[in-house]
Amino acid sequence: MFDNVIEAMVDAVLVVDVEGRITLTNTATHQITGYTAEQLKTLPIAKLLVDDSSGLRTIVRKRIEDGDVLRREKSWLLTSNGERIPVSVTGSPVLDAQGGLQGIVLVARDIRELRQLLLDKEEEIKRRCHAEAELRALNASIEAKLDETRGSLLLAERRATLGTLAGGVGHELRNIAQIQVAAVDELAAAIAANEDVAALAKQILPDLERVAEHITAHGQRLMQLARPGPDHVQPLDLNQVIRDVIAMLRGAGKLSRVELTCELSTEPILVTVNRMRIEQILVNLVINAVDAIGSSTGKITIDVRPSVDGKRAVCEVHDTGSGIPEDQLENIFHPFFTTKPEDKGTGLGLPVAREIVTTYGGTLTASSEVGKGTSFVFDLPR
Ligand SMILES: Nc1ncnc2c1ncn2[C@@H]1O[C@H](COP(=O)(O)OP(=O)(O)OP(=O)(O)O)[C@@H](O)[C@H]1O
Ligand SMILES: [Mg+2]
Repeated sequence: MFDNVIEAMVDAVLVVDVEGRITLTNTATHQITGYTAEQLKTLPIAKLLVDDSSGLRTIVRKRIEDGDVLRREKSWLLTSNGERIPVSVTGSPVLDAQGGLQGIVLVARDIRELRQLLLDKEEEIKRRCHAEAELRALNASIEAKLDETRGSLLLAERRATLGTLAGGVGHELRNIAQIQVAAVDELAAAIAANEDVAALAKQILPDLERVAEHITAHGQRLMQLARPGPDHVQPLDLNQVIRDVIAMLRGAGKLSRVELTCELSTEPILVTVNRMRIEQILVNLVINAVDAIGSSTGKITIDVRPSVDGKRAVCEVHDTGSGIPEDQLENIFHPFFTTKPEDKGTGLGLPVAREIVTTYGGTLTASSEVGKGTSFVFDLPR
């Protein structure tokens, strides 16, 4: 029965006497070591089982003499052809009836498969670490590329903004040039008709001077686009600015076909802004209103008042022109949105106006009804 049990075991089982001689082995031992039972009987255990440090024999003996059971000691089985097979060894003492040590039963488990498994796992962990490192590197390079793309997008956006701003300046220069052309035409006609040029010149010169100021200011603004500098602001009475703009537009013949009413405030409404920029907004709003009325008759009303809480200046430009369809009310503030022929409109007037008002901490909004008219309202801090 005992022999059968030992035979049935897949682990190598060896019984060793106190001298270290092998007295009993099972088939698994022969299969693993390549030795026959007879060969093993003549082999000292120290030649068959070794460990990395002091030699298994001493450890086995010492432990067993101390009465300890040897548990899963890592060692090596030396096969008949010199191969070292890793094994895990368990040993128990064999005692006689008086408790004297007769020998040891050693069970050696071939752990090659287990070791291979461990090695495979280690290999897999290494592979994973490597893959992880590669992923991290890839991530970093993607981040770097993203940064680069962000950078070039920013540059493209800056260029687009510059283009829009430069377009805005061009738009204003064109509006203002029309005023100059009209004034010069009028003067030329008066000279041709031998009229009193001096009186006319006196009337026109302030407008021309204003035009020149605008051109200079916008030239400066173009230069500022390349290298932004401070915006020259000063406290101004919004009523007066409106009066001047209307006089200028009237002088240029822009208001000849419309009826224009100004409802200015009786008290001065001071706002701290750059004069040219506010004039630019007003010129665009009024010219837009004139265009919306077109060849039909219509009315434009400009209204200036303090806000209800008195902290802001509110200006409304209302016209009885064509009106704006509801679904286009926000589009009109987008750069280059225009319903005018190419030689007439650039679609920059309103976006630039809104940008200016926003810079000063105000808002510019539109409300409209098709066929009835449109109102633009902007406010500025006082
Ligand atoms: N008072 C208004 N009544 C009706 N439509 C308007 C009015 N003001 C603006 N719009 C619409 O908004 C569009 C954009 O106006 P914006 O001033 O930005 O450019 P534009 O007048 O078309 O061109 P530009 O100002 O360069 O001459 C106009 O083309 C027009 O369709
Ligand atoms: Mg316009």
